[in-house]
Amino acid sequence: MAYSNFAAWWTNVLLVSLTINGYYPQPLYAAPSTRTTTAKPVFTMPASADQGALLLPNIKDPDRVNAQDLCPGYLASDVKETTHGFSARLSLAGEACNVYGTDVESLDLTVEYQSKDRLNVNIVPTHIDSSNRSHYILSEDLVPKPKPDEHAKVTDHKPDLDFSWSNEPSFSFKVTRKSTGDVLFDTQGTVLVFENQFVEFTSSLPQNHNLYGLGERIHGLRLAKNFTATIYAADVGDPVDTNLYGSHPFYLDTRYFEVQEDGELVPMADEEHDTSRKYVSYSHGVFLRNAHGHEILLQPDSLTWRTLGGSIDLYFYSGPSQPEVTKSFQLSAIGLPPLQQYYTFGFHQCRWGYKNWAELEQLVSDFRKFEIPLETVWSDIDFMRGYRDFTFDAVNYPIEEGKKFLSGLHEKGLHWIPMVDAAIYIPNPEDPSDAYATYERGNASDVWLRNPDGTVYIGAVWPGYTVFPDLLAANAQEWWTMELKEFFESAPYDGLWIDMNEVSSFCVGSCGSNNLTLNPVHPSFQLPGEPGNVIYDYPEGFNITNATEAASASSASSAQEASKTATMPPPSTTTSPEYLRTTPTPGVRNVNHPPYVINHVQGDLAVHAVSPNATHVDGTLEYDIHNLYGHQLINATYHGLLSLFPNKRPFVLGRSTFSGSGKWTAHWGGDNQSRWAYMFFSIPQALSFSLFGIPMFGVDTCGFNGNSDEELCNRWMQLSAFFPFYRNHNVLSAIPQEPYIWSSVIEASKKAMAIRYALLPYIYTLFHQAHTIGSTVMRALAWEFPNDPSLASADRQFLLGPSLMVVPVLQPQATTVDGVFPGIADGEIWYDWYTQTLFDAVAGKNTTIDAPLGHIPVYVRGGSILPMQEPALTTREVRNSPWSLLVALDGKAKAEGHLYVDDGESVEPESTLSVHFTVENNRLHAVSDGTYEDKNSLDKITILGADLGSSPCHVVLNGQEIPGQLVSYNQTSRVLAVTGLKEFTKGRCAWDEGWVLKW
Ligand code: NOJ
Repeated sequence: MAYSNFAAWWTNVLLVSLTINGYYPQPLYAAPSTRTTTAKPVFTMPASADQGALLLPNIKDPDRVNAQDLCPGYLASDVKETTHGFSARLSLAGEACNVYGTDVESLDLTVEYQSKDRLNVNIVPTHIDSSNRSHYILSEDLVPKPKPDEHAKVTDHKPDLDFSWSNEPSFSFKVTRKSTGDVLFDTQGTVLVFENQFVEFTSSLPQNHNLYGLGERIHGLRLAKNFTATIYAADVGDPVDTNLYGSHPFYLDTRYFEVQEDGELVPMADEEHDTSRKYVSYSHGVFLRNAHGHEILLQPDSLTWRTLGGSIDLYFYSGPSQPEVTKSFQLSAIGLPPLQQYYTFGFHQCRWGYKNWAELEQLVSDFRKFEIPLETVWSDIDFMRGYRDFTFDAVNYPIEEGKKFLSGLHEKGLHWIPMVDAAIYIPNPEDPSDAYATYERGNASDVWLRNPDGTVYIGAVWPGYTVFPDLLAANAQEWWTMELKEFFESAPYDGLWIDMNEVSSFCVGSCGSNNLTLNPVHPSFQLPGEPGNVIYDYPEGFNITNATEAASASSASSAQEASKTATMPPPSTTTSPEYLRTTPTPGVRNVNHPPYVINHVQGDLAVHAVSPNATHVDGTLEYDIHNLYGHQLINATYHGLLSLFPNKRPFVLGRSTFSGSGKWTAHWGGDNQSRWAYMFFSIPQALSFSLFGIPMFGVDTCGFNGNSDEELCNRWMQLSAFFPFYRNHNVLSAIPQEPYIWSSVIEASKKAMAIRYALLPYIYTLFHQAHTIGSTVMRALAWEFPNDPSLASADRQFLLGPSLMVVPVLQPQATTVDGVFPGIADGEIWYDWYTQTLFDAVAGKNTTIDAPLGHIPVYVRGGSILPMQEPALTTREVRNSPWSLLVALDGKAKAEGHLYVDDGESVEPESTLSVHFTVENNRLHAVSDGTYEDKNSLDKITILGADLGSSPCHVVLNGQEIPGQLVSYNQTSRVLAVTGLKEFTKGRCAWDEGWVLKW
């Protein structure tokens, strides 16, 4: 199957199978498993509490008005040269159209050549009356603006981007790559629409474009060419193609050209390419610094960007390669990712529904019993007293027992990460026993979001009616930091998991305002495991592998559906729904129901989220910065932790992110499904987050919503072992899916984890590079092999750093997998990880690989040197084990690699160590630099692809011949292995000084 079709194929399979099961991905949330706070019956919020207005998204509205047909556009005048480019005035070119808001009469255009690879096009209203809040321009305090390189004038840095504009027939602009003449962005033939609640601009796109990014979403890596990407932070359990938790208004565009004999570049006409021809690619990036709701309409020949307000603050990155675009985007705009603590690369076990400390204790001992590595135990909301942040349930999770559990855990070198939700419970004013100190302190600090009338905004989440921290409030950071401190004092956690920060609220508007005496209340929906909501869903293929169980699950599921239907109100007899349509009123913004309706997965912007009219301390409305709520909470958490532990790298795992969150947080792929399709989608999702500058990414391994099964969990535990963040997580009441539940999964997990743990030094080094220079960790094939157009949409396999390629099985019942081996036509070679021999693959063609259950194909790229240590049950043990090197020679018998070592936790390590490895002329050089003292010795060096012929081999380390019994060479496999070096070097530390190994 062609790469481009795989995502679409899975999307179809998934939708069909979910419909057959009578189940479409909905937010699947369960209620409190324990309610110990009150004896009175718990009030359940009515379903209507979370229902918004009936809206028809504009893109689906047959009667929609096309702003392009009605709006006059603008005319540029008053052009003035500036230090970095020029500025101009844009004036409305005719009568205002006011299609989806009020047209802004006059705009200021600034064009800045900010560096040799970056161009900024900024268009803002000339007059902003901040007193009437008619227009919000994103504050630099919230999202810093990339600045021109210091002292850089256009003439100094010769940018490869050229900006040109025209007033014919109205203002349009064009961005061209000077070196190739390729037009990257061109609004000619369209009008610029700039209203207080609607901004639209369109660029034509050539046939050879390939777009990536514009997330967060469940989609193939390359964005479809007839697709609308909505960006609006939503708490929703991972439907395909819709907006989700995070907002990343950035795309990468890669264009392939055929190189003619005379060197001329001809844009590739279509997907077909001929392996005998030569191609090159050029990539550029585009970032729209705007936090409003977005919709990007992608068509084969154009891209239309619409936002619900703000400004046009566009940054063009000329690349011309993906690594250059990504590095520059991070360095100039969103920041570099932090170096994570070493332990975070170990395996994390989590689930919603661990009942008490004893169950966690048992979990730890089960992992030990089966000798499966475990690094971190996670606690979901189960530990809290009535789901209130920073509290402990007195019956199931008493603090004293917790302290004991945690100290035992820490002694073993393990870690604990608990959940923190964004919403804060507001106690029942009539029940003194309901007092909640976190709320009281926050209230005293005046840190809650408010309603437009100044009263506190009260929504609802797990504990019942809740308030929401306003992170713009003066005291918010201080209050939050103190809460983190108190929490740490009661239970010394090792990181924090920030959930529900979209920010989610289970009702429309300030639904708790007059209802506090009902608190605590139950959400309006049933949670998994509650009567009538038992989980019967299983992965695709379960009916073949577990026919009897599948049949009984299917009939139980039908019965459950039937009983739900029976209790549902009769369907409405109205045939044509009455959609709410907002007619723009001049000068007035309708933030709850903007005139332009984006294709938001929840429909109404206020459904399952804090409403757009919720108001921050400075008057800013949620409408204008909704997409930043999660980002700000992550920011506050990261900085709170940093101020409590100034030299310990804070570990934060956040759900809702924005461009720039990567400098503070790791991210998991939200509430995926226990389905094969979602295992596949985890790859493009991770790769997209590489582009968004959040390399510490992983999904809920074995799947969250629904039950997993042995085959899926087996494959998934192996696949995720090669993702940066490796965590198994499960929904409340689904069947258990810890790696020791099924015997084949135990073996499969151990096998893949042994590889991961041995490679920890390589992974850590990659993260250090990401942190210092912005290189990616998980990489798409297209980025490492940019001149092969056939890889443009490859997302069924990936690279971990430059040197390892993973080709996972992504379908049930398969025993083989088709993989491509990129670069072979240009001399690239690949070694099978397991056999250590050269892999025999054909250039540009799929090769079928044996991959029985329990085997994940992994390949080492010729030319690499991988630093490794001994696999163990914890990362602490790995860090104390002897070193080895895996050298995979390229076709010219050369190789190169790096190693970075430090104490694994300090923000500013006192000492560090870097080692550079090279192989040339049968000599392996290790050159170390730095003062960090690593005490482990070197024990093993394995050289793949060594060509020693049949002559006896002599291996010499720093001039001293290594005894023959420590050396082995296999002429057929061409593997030269030197073992037992630890004794030979008399246990000297491996990297104290440089050395040379010669053979
Ligand atoms: C939603 C999160 O995405 C999920 O991981 C978690 O288990 C539930 N909230 C319950 O806290």
